[in-house]
Amino acid sequence: MIKDWLQESNYTVIFTGAGMSTESGLPDFRSANKGLWKQHDPSKIASIDALNNNVDTFIDFYRERVLKVKEYGPHQGHYILAEWEQQGLVHSIITQNVDGFHQASGSKIVHELHGTLQKLHCQSCGKEYSSGEYVDNEYHCDCGGVLRPSIILFGEMLPQEAFQTAFQDAEKADLFIVLGSSLTVSPANQIPLIAKESGARLIIVNQEPTPYDQYADMTIHDQKIGVFLQAVANEGKG
Ligand code: APR
Repeated sequence: MIKDWLQESNYTVIFTGAGMSTESGLPDFRSANKGLWKQHDPSKIASIDALNNNVDTFIDFYRERVLKVKEYGPHQGHYILAEWEQQGLVHSIITQNVDGFHQASGSKIVHELHGTLQKLHCQSCGKEYSSGEYVDNEYHCDCGGVLRPSIILFGEMLPQEAFQTAFQDAEKADLFIVLGSSLTVSPANQIPLIAKESGARLIIVNQEPTPYDQYADMTIHDQKIGVFLQAVANEGKG
């Protein structure tokens, strides 16, 4: 049935959260057992305040995440989404993730709401570096400033352009599929609602209930994302 919805839809938008990358080996943030924010206080780690006043802990945490992103990579589910874009079944992906796995698996239109771990920039002069500097234990810019990942920290301005295009895509969507987000962080969590209010069919695939399940046309809590995507990809195959 979902493959039918995909084929009937003229403008399908996928919205992903950290649950999209747990099957690659990356922890998410709020899962009961292994979520990152179950072990660390995000305000002391993932905030502009942490960068300014706790820089060694900040860099240790993000160097670890950069190394993990380089060690792991996209899983089959990422590749299925990229294939659906190639086949014209998916228009774009809106992601809260910073691992770059959608682009690495071939997806072309990806709106990164929270930036990316694939790049670093100098906190003082803004000069950009590849995240490989963290692998080489380089944490300072030529100007002497601190290098930090080009992700959006709590307390920082959100990337207006990424959000604008994400809102526009949500308004145009006639099928909107959420994959692996607790939908607890605003304003990103408003985007599925905008899609629904603009007339889209809304599917939420998430191992735990979300606050927006009540607005969904279909919720899937008992299937991991990788299994779900593979099952839809196999629909209609003999
Ligand atoms: N299949 C389906 N659902 C999964 C899977 C999986 N394989 N793995 C995890 N999940 C679900 C979890 O149950 C959880 O509800 O994915 C959800 C991930 O939610 P969060 O950990 O809150 O991640 P996310 O919604 O992306 O967080 C949003 O919070 O800290 C900020 O900037 C950070 O972008 C992040 C934002």
